Amino acid sequence: MRNILLIGIGAGDPEQITVQAINAMNRVDVFFMVDKGEAKQGLGQLREEILDRYISEHTYRVVHGSDPERDRTSPTYVAAVDDWRSQRAALYLRMIGEELGADETGAFLIWGDPTLYDSTIGILANLHSRGEVPFDYEVIPGISSVSALAARHRTALNQIGRPVQITTGRRLAQAWPAEVDDVVVMLDARNAFTGYTGEDIDIYWGAYVGTPDEILLSGRLFEVAPRIEAERAQARERKGWIMDSYLLRRQAGDDSR
Ligand SMILES: C[S@@+](CC[C@H](N)C(=O)[O-])C[C@H]1O[C@@H](n2cnc3c(N)ncnc32)[C@H](O)[C@@H]1O
Repeated sequence: MRNILLIGIGAGDPEQITVQAINAMNRVDVFFMVDKGEAKQGLGQLREEILDRYISEHTYRVVHGSDPERDRTSPTYVAAVDDWRSQRAALYLRMIGEELGADETGAFLIWGDPTLYDSTIGILANLHSRGEVPFDYEVIPGISSVSALAARHRTALNQIGRPVQITTGRRLAQAWPAEVDDVVVMLDARNAFTGYTGEDIDIYWGAYVGTPDEILLSGRLFEVAPRIEAERAQARERKGWIMDSYLLRRQAGDDSR
């Protein structure tokens, strides 16, 4: 039976990889690399660096596939994402069916942790239940960008006994999540934090965390928001893409615990 490993590789620092991930990589016959085009070349390079550094016997094969483009002009976000996921599913199915022998082990190296804002588990679960190409699959957790961000700022994600919510820039732009004071925001293309500069909030922001390009800024939101906006624009200009996230923190009163 074919076996597929979804291996979390951390969010940019090649030392933030677990022993379990290293052992899993050493069992792999075929690595499936889904390329995101020229712009995000650095991410592909990190994957290759990880293979060179941690695999003791270089007997594996690497199969590249091109990530389908998501239709960003579509007025319906959900339909565009569904369409993109089904194109990705077709690509994965083809790679697994055509490039992996019947008793071989294949792997996808997943940025950060495969269980957080990543579609690979969902797509593989769906392909597994369809059964057109029989395979088994395992998930190896990784250090997410959320943990890496909090650690670099030397802060905890939650206040004592309080919840924390992880959400997207798109959702934060609509409303502050109910009943939480600590909100981690990922996938923010449009500076959603600027909608909250009138409130008493601290921000812990990081771009390219764990990589040589890392930028960290923190402080009172109304004071640092303009600097973060400027840093984001410059970084995007410089590298062609940005990968950043942030924790917004409102002080929780004692009565709210
Ligand atoms: C598709 S999600 C993938 C998350 C990933 N599975 C994880 O566990 O971190 C991509 C988002 O993760 C965040 N991210 C990933 N790597 C990052 C890094 N090195 N520094 C800051 N944010 C990062 C950004 O918000 C980015 O938009």
